[in-house]
Amino acid sequence: MSDLKWWQTSVFYQIYPRSFADGNGDGIGDLKGIIQKLDYLADLGIDAIWLSPHFPSPNWDWGYDISDYTKVAPEYGTLEEFKTFLHEAHARHIRVILDLVLNHTSDQHPWFIESESSRDNAKADWYVWVDKPPNNWQSCFDGDAWTYVPERDQYYYHYFMKQQPDLNWHNPEVKQAMWDVVRFWLDLGVDGYRLDAISTIFEDPNLTPHEVPLNLAGLRRLSELAQSPEEIRQVGEYWVDMFKYQLAQPGLHDLMKELRAVINEYDGDRLLVAEDEDIAYMGNGEDELHLVFNFPLLKVGSITPALIQLNQKERLERLDALPKRGWPCNTLGNHDNSRIHTHFGDKIYDAQIARLNAALMFTLRGTPFLYYGEEIGMTDLIITDPTRLRDTMATWYYDALVNDLKIDPAEAALRAGEMTRDKNRTPMQWTSGPNGGFSSENIETWLPVHPNHAQGINARDEAKNPASLLNYYKRLLRLRRSTPALVEGEYTALEVATGEYFAFLRTTNMQTLLVVLNYSNQRHSLEMAVSGFKTARTLFSSLERSKAEERLTNLTVGPFEALIAELQA
Ligand code: NOJ
Repeated sequence: MSDLKWWQTSVFYQIYPRSFADGNGDGIGDLKGIIQKLDYLADLGIDAIWLSPHFPSPNWDWGYDISDYTKVAPEYGTLEEFKTFLHEAHARHIRVILDLVLNHTSDQHPWFIESESSRDNAKADWYVWVDKPPNNWQSCFDGDAWTYVPERDQYYYHYFMKQQPDLNWHNPEVKQAMWDVVRFWLDLGVDGYRLDAISTIFEDPNLTPHEVPLNLAGLRRLSELAQSPEEIRQVGEYWVDMFKYQLAQPGLHDLMKELRAVINEYDGDRLLVAEDEDIAYMGNGEDELHLVFNFPLLKVGSITPALIQLNQKERLERLDALPKRGWPCNTLGNHDNSRIHTHFGDKIYDAQIARLNAALMFTLRGTPFLYYGEEIGMTDLIITDPTRLRDTMATWYYDALVNDLKIDPAEAALRAGEMTRDKNRTPMQWTSGPNGGFSSENIETWLPVHPNHAQGINARDEAKNPASLLNYYKRLLRLRRSTPALVEGEYTALEVATGEYFAFLRTTNMQTLLVVLNYSNQRHSLEMAVSGFKTARTLFSSLERSKAEERLTNLTVGPFEALIAELQA
């Protein structure tokens, strides 16, 4: 293929290590399990893994509260096992990027333990300390953003939970320590990083209070109750206003440039992809981050042709306007969001819509990121027993609903079960057997396995069924690998007669592809006119098509069909 970098041609697969594969039978996923499943991933056809945090952690936020950045969590294995994992992945031509949490550490990290011990220790200024809470800022997870420490008779700031104190990135020693961490894993051969929550790194220097007349629990509750468009608009505004002084503050661009310089010390085109949608963090296109996610597409309630078209127009125009043209990066799910089936389904055609959305991810211009289990159609699992919740954000909210807002416990349990991220982090479903083949029988897995593993939603059964979603993904991924225009082709949206389907071209000098995604249950005659082309040869369809080649003017698409065709003169 052309001169694209590996991360432009790759399909990424996110592994949430706790939930992917349990290699030692303790109910928790681990590196040994991941190594055993590398052949599955190679066969699926992905090119790179994003591994969510695998570092030691007290697990208040399941690895996103790190207590040692250069070790492996004992429940996941050892550093030696990590090296084996990396070696085995590379041996299968699968790259590996790690999760880099810059904003905060665990409160059990030795840096924080030292920092909180007195006002004059060597790390006294490594976190954000104040004498008195200077404002009403909230933590986005658990209420007040300022927590008191008697040893210092001071408060520290945390955007996330109190167990996740924010580092003071104005302190050059913090930077050096973190850049050493970055180098540690790059030296071992990892291919880059996904950067956690970069927009939370700096705070408003004036510490301006927010003006929302509610605290976090109150706003969450109001959001659940909002019904009318006006109420929904109001809560949306409140969410932005509550956190606007704590997010995306000055200083970040310089910091991202420094980090890029560290990455550039290494060969192999190591990658930085931010958990952020703001294209501004790509700098001039080559001096900050390589990629940011197209989160605006993920955040919509349901995907419609009009929304995709608008989204692509906005994103691609901005990327094209960078001095060095930027590359898109698309995703429809991750460990913080509902699964594709549940999120974008309409409760009638969920399976068909999930197939369309998979085709969308692999045909749009840009690097796709796929969350584990989407390829077999895993769905959210609403946990209604609060004692089974593991996401601290949800247990905190349950307690706040019952104790502070005096909500009936049954309703509170339902609300917590709906808002928690546990629902989309359940163990990977490998078989229809006990525990979905994730762990052996009689083991209590860290989160319950979705019962639908026994109804065919599992990798083993789907592998045997040619019509399964898993085989649909494999077909799409194979086609993508063997069809350069799907990877490097330019994108051009086509005018279509109705808003029920969506059509675009992917074009290189050698090839022109037509992609049609019909988001309706109706058949449509396309009556396409693409200058210079007369016929369309089907490369892929989600339905059976009677003819392999058709005149463009006669082309039709069936209900919920995803069609990829090569145009010919
Ligand atoms: C974003 C991560 O994706 C999320 O899971 C985590 O809770 C927060 N950042 C805090 O690290």
